[in-house]
Amino acid sequence: MKISSVKGFHDILPDESARWNRMEAQAREVFTRYGYHEIRIPILEKTEVFSRSIGEATDIVEKEMYTFEDGDGSSVTLRPEGTAAVVRAYVEHALHQREPFWKLYYIGPMFRRERPQKGRLRQFHQIGVEAIGRDDAAVDAEVVLLLHDLISAVKVRDPRIDLNSLGCSDCRPRYVELLRRFGEQRRDQLCENCKRRLERNPLRLLDCKVESCQTATADAPVIVDHLCDACRAHFETVRGLLAREQVETHLNPRMVRGLDYYCRTAFEVSAAGLGAQSAVGGGGRYDGLVRSFGGPDTTGIGFALGVERLLLAIDEEHDTTRPPPEIFLAPLDRAAESEATHLAHTLRRDGMRVEVPSAGKSLKSQMRSADRLGAPYVLIMGADELAAKAVTVRDMAGKRNFPLAINIPTTAAELRAALVRLRAEPPLEQHP
Ligand code: HAM
Repeated sequence: MKISSVKGFHDILPDESARWNRMEAQAREVFTRYGYHEIRIPILEKTEVFSRSIGEATDIVEKEMYTFEDGDGSSVTLRPEGTAAVVRAYVEHALHQREPFWKLYYIGPMFRRERPQKGRLRQFHQIGVEAIGRDDAAVDAEVVLLLHDLISAVKVRDPRIDLNSLGCSDCRPRYVELLRRFGEQRRDQLCENCKRRLERNPLRLLDCKVESCQTATADAPVIVDHLCDACRAHFETVRGLLAREQVETHLNPRMVRGLDYYCRTAFEVSAAGLGAQSAVGGGGRYDGLVRSFGGPDTTGIGFALGVERLLLAIDEEHDTTRPPPEIFLAPLDRAAESEATHLAHTLRRDGMRVEVPSAGKSLKSQMRSADRLGAPYVLIMGADELAAKAVTVRDMAGKRNFPLAINIPTTAAELRAALVRLRAEPPLEQHP
Protein backbone atom coordinates (compact mmCIF):
# COMPACT_ATOMS: atom_id res chain seq x y z
CA MET A 1 0.00 0.00 0.00
CA LYS A 2 1.29 3.43 -0.94
CA ILE A 3 1.45 6.01 1.82
CA SER A 4 0.97 9.62 0.71
CA SER A 5 2.03 12.79 2.49
CA VAL A 6 -0.33 14.53 4.93
CA LYS A 7 -2.86 16.88 3.27
CA GLY A 8 -1.34 20.33 2.80
CA PHE A 9 2.20 19.06 3.44
CA HIS A 10 4.29 18.90 0.27
CA ASP A 11 7.56 17.38 -0.85
CA ILE A 12 10.02 19.68 -2.58
CA LEU A 13 11.50 17.40 -5.22
CA PRO A 14 15.06 17.68 -6.60
CA ASP A 15 13.95 19.46 -9.77
CA GLU A 16 12.31 22.21 -7.67
CA SER A 17 14.94 22.58 -5.01
CA ALA A 18 17.29 24.55 -7.29
CA ARG A 19 14.73 27.39 -7.34
CA TRP A 20 14.34 27.24 -3.56
CA ASN A 21 18.08 27.39 -3.05
CA ARG A 22 18.43 30.29 -5.43
CA MET A 23 15.62 32.21 -3.71
CA GLU A 24 17.14 31.60 -0.29
CA ALA A 25 20.61 32.56 -1.48
CA GLN A 26 19.27 35.83 -2.95
CA ALA A 27 17.49 36.58 0.34
CA ARG A 28 20.61 35.89 2.41
CA GLU A 29 22.60 38.16 0.12
CA VAL A 30 20.18 41.07 0.57
CA PHE A 31 20.00 40.48 4.35
CA THR A 32 23.76 40.61 4.60
CA ARG A 33 23.80 43.96 2.79
CA TYR A 34 21.39 45.30 5.42
CA GLY A 35 23.38 43.85 8.33
CA TYR A 36 20.93 41.10 9.33
CA HIS A 37 22.08 37.89 11.03
CA GLU A 38 20.41 34.52 10.93
CA ILE A 39 18.59 33.11 13.92
CA ARG A 40 17.41 29.50 13.91
CA ILE A 41 14.47 28.93 16.17
CA PRO A 42 12.77 25.62 17.05
CA ILE A 43 9.81 24.31 15.09
CA LEU A 44 7.97 23.35 18.27
CA GLU A 45 7.22 25.90 21.01
CA LYS A 46 5.09 26.04 24.14
CA THR A 47 1.58 26.91 23.00
CA GLU A 48 1.45 30.11 25.04
CA VAL A 49 4.26 31.60 22.89
CA PHE A 50 1.71 31.96 20.12
CA SER A 51 -1.66 32.11 21.87
CA ARG A 52 -0.60 35.08 24.00
CA SER A 53 1.06 37.09 21.25
CA ILE A 54 -0.84 36.42 18.03
CA GLY A 55 -4.13 36.94 19.87
CA GLU A 56 -6.81 34.56 21.19
CA ALA A 57 -9.39 35.93 18.74
CA THR A 58 -7.36 35.50 15.56
CA ASP A 59 -8.02 32.78 12.96
CA ILE A 60 -4.55 31.36 13.60
CA VAL A 61 -5.04 30.81 17.32
CA GLU A 62 -8.76 30.01 17.15
CA LYS A 63 -8.57 27.27 14.55
CA GLU A 64 -5.31 26.87 12.65
CA MET A 65 -2.63 25.82 15.10
CA TYR A 66 -1.23 22.30 15.28
CA THR A 67 -1.42 22.01 19.04
CA PHE A 68 -1.02 18.81 20.98
CA GLU A 69 -0.18 17.50 24.40
CA ASP A 70 3.43 16.51 24.89
CA GLY A 71 4.40 13.41 26.90
CA ASP A 72 4.66 15.48 30.11
CA GLY A 73 1.14 16.86 29.70
CA SER A 74 2.26 20.32 28.54
CA SER A 75 0.68 21.91 25.50
CA VAL A 76 3.01 22.45 22.53
CA THR A 77 2.42 23.93 19.06
CA LEU A 78 4.12 23.65 15.69
CA ARG A 79 5.08 27.25 15.00
CA PRO A 80 2.49 29.02 12.80
CA GLU A 81 4.83 32.00 12.34
CA GLY A 82 8.27 33.19 13.41
CA THR A 83 7.88 36.55 15.14
CA ALA A 84 6.64 35.31 18.52
CA ALA A 85 9.32 32.61 18.63
CA VAL A 86 12.09 35.10 17.77
CA VAL A 87 10.88 37.43 20.51
CA ARG A 88 10.75 34.49 22.94
CA ALA A 89 14.38 33.68 22.06
CA TYR A 90 15.41 37.35 22.30
CA VAL A 91 14.01 37.57 25.83
CA GLU A 92 15.14 34.10 26.93
CA HIS A 93 18.75 34.83 25.97
CA ALA A 94 18.61 38.48 27.13
CA LEU A 95 19.99 39.61 23.78
CA HIS A 96 19.24 43.24 24.70
CA GLN A 97 21.97 43.04 27.35
CA ARG A 98 24.54 42.29 24.66
CA GLU A 99 23.52 44.91 22.10
CA PRO A 100 20.73 47.46 22.05
CA PHE A 101 19.59 46.75 18.48
CA TRP A 102 19.28 43.37 16.75
CA LYS A 103 18.58 42.68 13.11
CA LEU A 104 17.62 39.03 12.71
CA TYR A 105 16.38 36.86 9.88
CA TYR A 106 15.04 33.32 9.61
CA ILE A 107 14.09 30.92 6.86
CA GLY A 108 12.03 27.82 7.50
CA PRO A 109 8.75 25.95 7.64
CA MET A 110 5.63 27.21 9.44
CA PHE A 111 2.40 25.30 10.07
CA ARG A 112 -1.21 26.45 9.86
CA ARG A 113 -4.20 24.17 9.53
CA GLU A 114 -5.86 26.19 6.78
CA ARG A 115 -7.94 24.82 3.88
CA PRO A 116 -5.30 23.99 1.27
CA GLN A 117 -5.56 25.61 -2.16
CA LYS A 118 -3.21 27.23 -4.66
CA GLY A 119 -0.65 29.21 -2.64
CA ARG A 120 -2.10 28.02 0.67
CA LEU A 121 -0.57 25.04 2.40
CA ARG A 122 -0.54 23.60 5.88
CA GLN A 123 3.23 23.41 5.93
CA PHE A 124 4.57 26.46 4.15
CA HIS A 125 7.87 28.32 4.33
CA GLN A 126 8.68 31.84 5.36
CA ILE A 127 11.64 34.10 4.88
CA GLY A 128 11.32 36.61 7.68
CA VAL A 129 13.13 39.42 9.47
CA GLU A 130 12.80 41.06 12.86
CA ALA A 131 14.55 44.29 13.84
CA ILE A 132 14.29 44.62 17.61
CA GLY A 133 15.40 47.52 19.78
CA ARG A 134 14.65 50.79 17.98
CA ASP A 135 11.37 52.63 17.62
CA ASP A 136 12.26 55.49 15.27
CA ALA A 137 10.51 55.84 11.94
CA ALA A 138 13.82 55.40 10.07
CA VAL A 139 13.83 51.74 11.09
CA ASP A 140 10.30 51.22 9.77
CA ALA A 141 11.34 52.81 6.49
CA GLU A 142 14.51 50.72 6.32
CA VAL A 143 12.56 47.49 6.86
CA VAL A 144 10.17 48.40 4.04
CA LEU A 145 13.17 49.28 1.83
CA LEU A 146 14.68 45.90 2.67
CA LEU A 147 11.40 44.25 1.68
CA HIS A 148 11.35 46.24 -1.54
CA ASP A 149 14.95 45.32 -2.40
CA LEU A 150 14.27 41.68 -1.64
CA ILE A 151 11.21 41.40 -3.88
CA SER A 152 13.12 43.26 -6.61
CA ALA A 153 16.10 40.90 -6.26
CA VAL A 154 13.93 37.82 -6.69
CA LYS A 155 11.93 39.59 -9.44
CA VAL A 156 8.38 39.41 -8.10
CA ARG A 157 5.94 40.15 -10.92
CA ASP A 158 4.03 43.48 -10.52
CA PRO A 159 4.49 43.80 -6.76
CA ARG A 160 2.36 46.19 -4.75
CA ILE A 161 3.14 47.34 -1.23
CA ASP A 162 0.16 48.45 0.89
CA LEU A 163 0.87 50.54 3.94
CA ASN A 164 -1.20 51.53 6.96
CA SER A 165 -0.75 52.67 10.52
CA LEU A 166 -2.57 50.73 13.23
CA GLY A 167 -2.00 53.34 15.92
CA CYS A 168 -0.79 52.64 19.44
CA SER A 169 -2.23 51.54 22.78
CA ASP A 170 -3.34 55.12 23.23
CA CYS A 171 -5.23 55.89 20.02
CA ARG A 172 -6.16 52.45 18.76
CA PRO A 173 -8.66 51.44 21.49
CA ARG A 174 -10.59 54.68 20.89
CA TYR A 175 -10.74 53.94 17.17
CA VAL A 176 -11.70 50.29 17.69
CA GLU A 177 -14.60 51.37 19.90
CA LEU A 178 -15.71 53.78 17.18
CA LEU A 179 -15.53 50.98 14.61
CA ARG A 180 -17.42 48.62 16.90
CA ARG A 181 -20.24 51.13 17.31
CA PHE A 182 -20.33 51.65 13.55
CA GLY A 183 -20.52 47.85 13.04
CA GLU A 184 -23.29 47.50 15.62
CA GLN A 185 -25.44 49.86 13.59
CA ARG A 186 -25.05 47.55 10.57
CA ARG A 187 -25.09 44.26 12.42
CA ASP A 188 -27.95 42.88 10.25
CA GLN A 189 -25.87 43.23 7.10
CA LEU A 190 -22.82 41.43 8.51
CA CYS A 191 -21.88 37.77 8.08
CA GLU A 192 -21.95 35.50 11.15
CA ASN A 193 -18.18 35.68 11.41
CA CYS A 194 -18.20 39.47 11.48
CA LYS A 195 -20.97 39.47 14.09
CA ARG A 196 -18.60 37.55 16.33
CA ARG A 197 -15.73 39.83 15.36
CA LEU A 198 -17.79 42.79 16.58
CA GLU A 199 -17.37 41.49 20.12
CA ARG A 200 -13.92 39.95 19.88
CA ASN A 201 -11.88 41.74 17.23
CA PRO A 202 -13.73 44.57 15.47
CA LEU A 203 -10.69 45.60 13.37
CA ARG A 204 -11.09 42.43 11.32
CA LEU A 205 -14.46 43.74 10.02
CA LEU A 206 -12.35 45.70 7.57
CA ASP A 207 -10.70 42.77 5.85
CA CYS A 208 -13.68 40.39 5.65
CA LYS A 209 -13.82 38.89 2.16
CA VAL A 210 -17.65 38.50 2.13
CA GLU A 211 -19.08 40.96 -0.39
CA SER A 212 -22.08 42.05 1.71
CA CYS A 213 -19.72 42.86 4.62
CA GLN A 214 -17.49 44.86 2.32
CA THR A 215 -20.51 46.86 1.13
CA ALA A 216 -21.76 47.34 4.69
CA THR A 217 -18.41 48.63 5.91
CA ALA A 218 -17.45 50.61 2.79
CA ASP A 219 -17.88 53.92 4.63
CA ALA A 220 -16.54 52.72 7.99
CA PRO A 221 -14.28 55.12 9.86
CA VAL A 222 -10.60 54.45 9.08
CA ILE A 223 -7.81 54.49 11.61
CA VAL A 224 -5.53 56.93 9.80
CA ASP A 225 -8.14 59.62 10.54
CA HIS A 226 -8.00 58.79 14.25
CA LEU A 227 -4.29 58.47 15.03
CA CYS A 228 -2.84 60.35 17.98
CA ASP A 229 -0.32 63.10 17.16
CA ALA A 230 2.71 60.89 17.86
CA CYS A 231 1.45 58.05 15.64
CA ARG A 232 0.50 60.46 12.85
CA ALA A 233 3.95 62.08 12.93
CA HIS A 234 5.64 58.67 12.96
CA PHE A 235 3.61 57.48 9.99
CA GLU A 236 4.21 60.67 8.02
CA THR A 237 7.96 60.36 8.56
CA VAL A 238 7.91 56.73 7.36
CA ARG A 239 5.98 57.67 4.24
CA GLY A 240 8.24 60.64 3.57
CA LEU A 241 11.39 58.52 3.82
CA LEU A 242 9.95 55.92 1.45
CA ALA A 243 8.79 58.57 -1.02
CA ARG A 244 12.28 60.03 -1.05
CA GLU A 245 13.66 56.61 -2.10
CA GLN A 246 10.97 56.46 -4.79
CA VAL A 247 9.58 53.27 -3.36
CA GLU A 248 5.94 53.23 -4.30
CA THR A 249 3.57 52.30 -1.48
CA HIS A 250 -0.21 52.51 -1.38
CA LEU A 251 -1.95 53.89 1.65
CA ASN A 252 -4.57 51.26 2.49
CA PRO A 253 -6.49 52.25 5.60
CA ARG A 254 -8.47 48.98 5.53
CA MET A 255 -5.39 46.78 5.77
CA VAL A 256 -5.36 45.57 9.39
CA ARG A 257 -3.29 42.31 9.32
CA GLY A 258 -4.38 39.00 10.79
CA LEU A 259 -2.24 38.98 13.94
CA ASP A 260 -2.97 41.08 17.01
CA TYR A 261 0.52 42.19 18.01
CA TYR A 262 0.85 45.00 15.49
CA CYS A 263 0.83 48.70 16.16
CA ARG A 264 1.81 51.72 14.10
CA THR A 265 3.35 50.81 10.74
CA ALA A 266 1.82 47.75 9.03
CA PHE A 267 2.33 46.63 5.47
CA GLU A 268 1.58 43.88 3.00
CA VAL A 269 3.05 43.01 -0.35
CA SER A 270 0.97 41.35 -3.03
CA ALA A 271 1.69 40.17 -6.56
CA ALA A 272 -0.34 39.90 -9.74
CA GLY A 273 -1.71 36.57 -10.94
CA LEU A 274 -1.83 34.71 -7.64
CA GLY A 275 -5.64 34.55 -7.42
CA ALA A 276 -7.20 34.65 -3.96
CA GLN A 277 -3.89 34.19 -2.12
CA SER A 278 -2.29 37.33 -3.51
CA ALA A 279 -0.44 38.33 -0.31
CA VAL A 280 3.17 37.37 -0.80
CA GLY A 281 4.23 38.81 2.52
CA GLY A 282 3.32 41.09 5.36
CA GLY A 283 4.62 42.63 8.50
CA GLY A 284 4.67 45.59 10.80
CA ARG A 285 5.69 47.05 14.11
CA TYR A 286 4.97 45.32 17.42
CA ASP A 287 5.73 47.62 20.30
CA GLY A 288 4.26 45.64 23.21
CA LEU A 289 5.42 42.17 22.26
CA VAL A 290 8.88 42.03 23.86
CA ARG A 291 7.52 43.26 27.19
CA SER A 292 4.64 40.79 27.07
CA PHE A 293 7.27 38.00 27.03
CA GLY A 294 8.83 39.42 30.19
CA GLY A 295 11.54 41.34 28.30
CA PRO A 296 12.51 45.01 28.42
CA ASP A 297 10.25 47.78 27.21
CA THR A 298 11.67 47.67 23.73
CA THR A 299 10.08 47.56 20.31
CA GLY A 300 10.39 45.63 17.09
CA ILE A 301 9.34 45.55 13.48
CA GLY A 302 9.58 42.85 10.85
CA PHE A 303 7.95 41.00 8.02
CA ALA A 304 7.70 37.54 6.51
CA LEU A 305 7.40 36.43 2.92
CA GLY A 306 5.79 33.14 1.94
CA VAL A 307 8.31 31.20 -0.17
CA GLU A 308 5.69 29.10 -2.04
CA ARG A 309 3.81 32.26 -3.01
CA LEU A 310 7.03 34.04 -3.99
CA LEU A 311 7.87 31.15 -6.30
CA LEU A 312 4.41 31.47 -7.89
CA ALA A 313 4.96 35.21 -8.27
CA ILE A 314 8.25 35.23 -10.11
CA ASP A 315 8.65 35.05 -13.84
CA GLU A 316 11.67 32.82 -13.87
CA GLU A 317 11.46 29.79 -16.13
CA HIS A 318 10.94 26.52 -14.34
CA ASP A 319 14.60 25.69 -14.20
CA THR A 320 15.24 22.04 -13.50
CA THR A 321 18.91 22.07 -14.39
CA ARG A 322 21.46 20.67 -12.01
CA PRO A 323 25.17 21.21 -12.61
CA PRO A 324 26.31 18.41 -14.96
CA PRO A 325 29.20 16.15 -13.99
CA GLU A 326 32.58 17.31 -15.30
CA ILE A 327 33.45 13.75 -16.23
CA PHE A 328 31.58 10.49 -16.50
CA LEU A 329 33.50 7.27 -15.88
CA ALA A 330 32.55 4.26 -18.00
CA PRO A 331 34.12 1.05 -16.63
CA LEU A 332 33.69 -1.95 -18.93
CA ASP A 333 34.40 -4.85 -16.53
CA ARG A 334 34.75 -5.69 -12.82
CA ALA A 335 38.42 -4.78 -12.56
CA ALA A 336 37.74 -1.45 -14.21
CA GLU A 337 34.78 -0.83 -11.88
CA SER A 338 37.08 -1.01 -8.90
CA GLU A 339 39.53 1.42 -10.56
CA ALA A 340 36.61 3.73 -11.47
CA THR A 341 35.34 3.81 -7.87
CA HIS A 342 38.83 4.65 -6.67
CA LEU A 343 39.42 7.31 -9.34
CA ALA A 344 35.97 8.87 -8.71
CA HIS A 345 36.59 9.04 -4.98
CA THR A 346 40.01 10.69 -5.43
CA LEU A 347 38.68 13.28 -7.88
CA ARG A 348 35.56 14.08 -5.88
CA ARG A 349 37.66 14.65 -2.77
CA ASP A 350 39.63 17.03 -4.94
CA GLY A 351 36.50 19.03 -5.81
CA MET A 352 35.51 17.56 -9.17
CA ARG A 353 31.93 16.58 -10.10
CA VAL A 354 32.23 12.94 -11.18
CA GLU A 355 29.51 10.44 -12.12
CA VAL A 356 29.94 6.66 -12.16
CA PRO A 357 27.12 4.48 -13.57
CA SER A 358 25.74 1.48 -11.76
CA ALA A 359 27.74 -1.71 -12.36
CA GLY A 360 27.31 -4.02 -15.32
CA LYS A 361 25.95 -1.57 -17.89
CA SER A 362 26.94 -1.83 -21.57
CA LEU A 363 29.09 0.93 -23.03
CA LYS A 364 26.17 2.03 -25.18
CA SER A 365 23.89 2.46 -22.18
CA GLN A 366 26.67 4.25 -20.25
CA MET A 367 27.11 6.69 -23.13
CA ARG A 368 23.37 7.36 -23.15
CA SER A 369 23.45 8.12 -19.40
CA ALA A 370 26.45 10.44 -19.83
CA ASP A 371 24.64 12.27 -22.64
CA ARG A 372 21.44 12.64 -20.57
CA LEU A 373 23.42 14.10 -17.65
CA GLY A 374 25.26 16.53 -19.96
CA ALA A 375 28.77 15.27 -19.11
CA PRO A 376 31.30 16.86 -21.49
CA TYR A 377 33.75 13.93 -21.25
CA VAL A 378 33.38 10.19 -20.71
CA LEU A 379 36.46 8.29 -19.53
CA ILE A 380 36.14 4.77 -20.90
CA MET A 381 37.99 2.23 -18.77
CA GLY A 382 38.33 -1.31 -20.21
CA ALA A 383 40.90 -4.12 -19.91
CA ASP A 384 43.07 -2.64 -22.72
CA GLU A 385 43.09 0.75 -21.07
CA LEU A 386 43.93 -0.65 -17.63
CA ALA A 387 46.82 -2.67 -19.09
CA ALA A 388 48.17 0.46 -20.78
CA LYS A 389 47.64 2.64 -17.67
CA ALA A 390 45.37 4.80 -19.77
CA VAL A 391 41.73 5.71 -20.43
CA THR A 392 39.94 6.49 -23.66
CA VAL A 393 38.43 9.93 -23.46
CA ARG A 394 35.22 10.54 -25.38
CA ASP A 395 34.73 14.25 -26.12
CA MET A 396 30.94 14.34 -26.19
CA ALA A 397 30.61 17.68 -28.00
CA GLY A 398 33.20 16.87 -30.71
CA LYS A 399 32.10 13.21 -30.85
CA ARG A 400 35.75 12.14 -30.91
CA ASN A 401 37.85 9.67 -28.91
CA PHE A 402 41.36 10.30 -27.54
CA PRO A 403 43.80 8.08 -25.61
CA LEU A 404 44.95 9.55 -22.35
CA ALA A 405 47.74 8.08 -20.22
CA ILE A 406 46.68 8.38 -16.61
CA ASN A 407 48.26 7.52 -13.29
CA ILE A 408 45.53 6.60 -10.85
CA PRO A 409 45.18 8.37 -8.48
CA THR A 410 45.51 11.66 -10.31
CA THR A 411 44.48 15.15 -9.24
CA ALA A 412 41.49 17.07 -10.56
CA ALA A 413 43.79 19.87 -11.76
CA GLU A 414 45.99 17.44 -13.74
CA LEU A 415 42.99 15.77 -15.31
CA ARG A 416 41.31 19.06 -16.23
CA ALA A 417 44.53 20.32 -17.83
CA ALA A 418 44.96 17.05 -19.76
CA LEU A 419 41.39 17.24 -21.07
CA VAL A 420 41.95 20.81 -22.32
CA ARG A 421 45.18 19.69 -24.06
CA LEU A 422 43.41 16.76 -25.71
CA ARG A 423 40.88 18.97 -27.42
CA ALA A 424 43.72 20.35 -29.53
CA GLU A 425 45.03 16.90 -30.53
CA PRO A 426 44.02 14.71 -33.48
CA PRO A 427 41.42 12.08 -32.58
CA LEU A 428 41.87 8.35 -32.18
CA GLU A 429 39.77 5.98 -34.29
CA GLN A 430 36.49 4.75 -32.73
CA HIS A 431 36.79 2.69 -29.56
CA PRO A 432 36.67 -1.04 -30.52
P1 HAM B 1 1.51 36.59 7.90
O1 HAM B 1 0.87 37.68 7.10
O2 HAM B 1 0.59 35.76 8.71
O3 HAM B 1 2.57 37.28 8.81
O4 HAM B 1 2.33 35.62 6.95
C1 HAM B 1 3.31 36.14 6.09
C2 HAM B 1 3.25 35.42 4.74
O5 HAM B 1 3.35 34.01 4.91
C3 HAM B 1 1.95 35.60 3.99
O6 HAM B 1 1.91 36.83 3.30
C4 HAM B 1 2.01 34.44 3.02
O7 HAM B 1 2.84 34.74 1.90
C5 HAM B 1 2.69 33.38 3.85
N1 HAM B 1 1.66 32.45 4.35
C6 HAM B 1 0.90 32.56 5.44
N2 HAM B 1 0.08 31.51 5.58
C7 HAM B 1 0.33 30.70 4.53
C8 HAM B 1 -0.18 29.43 4.09
N3 HAM B 1 -1.11 28.77 4.79
N4 HAM B 1 0.30 28.89 2.95
C9 HAM B 1 1.28 29.53 2.24
N5 HAM B 1 1.81 30.72 2.62
C10 HAM B 1 1.34 31.30 3.74
C11 HAM B 1 3.37 36.63 9.72
O8 HAM B 1 3.48 35.43 9.78
C12 HAM B 1 4.17 37.56 10.59
N6 HAM B 1 4.95 36.76 11.55
C13 HAM B 1 5.07 38.45 9.76
C14 HAM B 1 5.86 39.38 10.59
C15 HAM B 1 7.17 39.29 10.89
N7 HAM B 1 5.41 40.44 11.23
C16 HAM B 1 6.39 41.03 11.89
N8 HAM B 1 7.45 40.34 11.71
